[in-house]
Amino acid sequence: MPYILLTGGAGYIGSHTALELLNAGYQVLSFDNYSNSSTEALNRVEQLSGKSIVKVTGDIRDEAALRQLFSEHQISAVVHFAGLKAVGESTQLPLHYYDNNVAGTVTLCRVMREVGVKKLVFSSSATVYGDAKQVPIPESAPRSATNPYGQSKLMIEYILQDLVQAEPDWGMTLLRYFNPVGAHHSGQIGEDPNGIPNNLMPFISQVAVGKRSSLSVFGNDYPTPDGTGVRDYIHVVDLARGHVKALQYLEQHNGIEAINLGTGVGYSVLDMVKAFSTVNQVAVPYQIAPRRPGDIAVCYAQPDKAKRLLGWQAEHSLDDMVKDSWRWQSQNPDGYKQA
Ligand code: NAD
Ligand code: UD1
Repeated sequence: MPYILLTGGAGYIGSHTALELLNAGYQVLSFDNYSNSSTEALNRVEQLSGKSIVKVTGDIRDEAALRQLFSEHQISAVVHFAGLKAVGESTQLPLHYYDNNVAGTVTLCRVMREVGVKKLVFSSSATVYGDAKQVPIPESAPRSATNPYGQSKLMIEYILQDLVQAEPDWGMTLLRYFNPVGAHHSGQIGEDPNGIPNNLMPFISQVAVGKRSSLSVFGNDYPTPDGTGVRDYIHVVDLARGHVKALQYLEQHNGIEAINLGTGVGYSVLDMVKAFSTVNQVAVPYQIAPRRPGDIAVCYAQPDKAKRLLGWQAEHSLDDMVKDSWRWQSQNPDGYKQA
């Protein structure tokens, strides 16, 4: 049986997707440079599934390594997670972000084209909608970006669209993730950010476990019901299952589709803090801080297209998200590092 290649397969979303693919009967090959992950995540996926993963260390910008990978393994499709994702860092290191994300994707596509593997699921982001004028956000909403990370996702979307335009025998999905949170129900795999977390849920978890003293809520003067920012948080296992559905869709279809993966429901920062502390019976001290530059007030998906095309919709509740985040964090206070 051919492999599904996961670039960045050891990362947060990649590892959860690897598990769902193995459970669905696919064979998985991970290609990762471990710049933001460790092999331990994949080892745990193997334990959870009782199946093995082929793990190759390498960089998507290394054309020779990719050629070798495709020549040594029969690959039917690629799920392309590999990328850098820290917004603040991207403003400090724009060349690094454009090189890694954009040039890396171009190199990957060049090799895929060469070897005739033309099915690609790409990790895009709701960040491509910029400060959307309407919510829920449909896939047809105008796109814009305000930082190099967002620009890199937008550029990749344009590049992939041009490629499919020129060569219609490609099949691609641009999956626009909203805010992935949570962890596998086992508590064995989860999000393991380096240093101080930028994102809300890992920050809340680290406050709850005592690694940080309190959460700064970035602004309570937004035009939202409680004044704090509203986002579409989606359980990472639901998100991972969306990739399995996208691959199944590509088995039948060529062309390119942008598809939102979100729940269609928005929760505020204070909703998240309240749910986390109530459901898990743990204190999450917080204080109100100034707005974070670049943040928007409200962002949630119009999720109908995923249901229509992929037969996919999110199934996990907010309680599941906060429970599973806490299980992972409390069982692994130092992430994969203690392993
Ligand atoms: P992650 O950092 O946990 O995973 C990315 C993986 O890619 C890591 O294992 C990293 O080592 C690897 N990688 C990075 N550059 C590489 C390169 N040049 N060659 C080979 N491997 C490389 O991040 P994640 O949260 O799992 O995100 C996966 C993808 O989804 C990223 O492209 C990200 O931009 C996108 N995304 C993430 C979110 C989110 O909130 N987590 C939201 C929207 C989109
Ligand atoms: C951020 C990125 C976005 C990226 C997404 C997923 C920015 C501006 N945007 O989105 O490009 O696709 O992560 O990785 O960084 N919050 C706090 N305190 C915190 C952390 C966050 O109050 O310590 C608030 C934020 O103001 C926001 C909400 O929590 O209202 C969610 O923040 P976050 O998890 O960082 O996600 P986004 O800002 O939606």
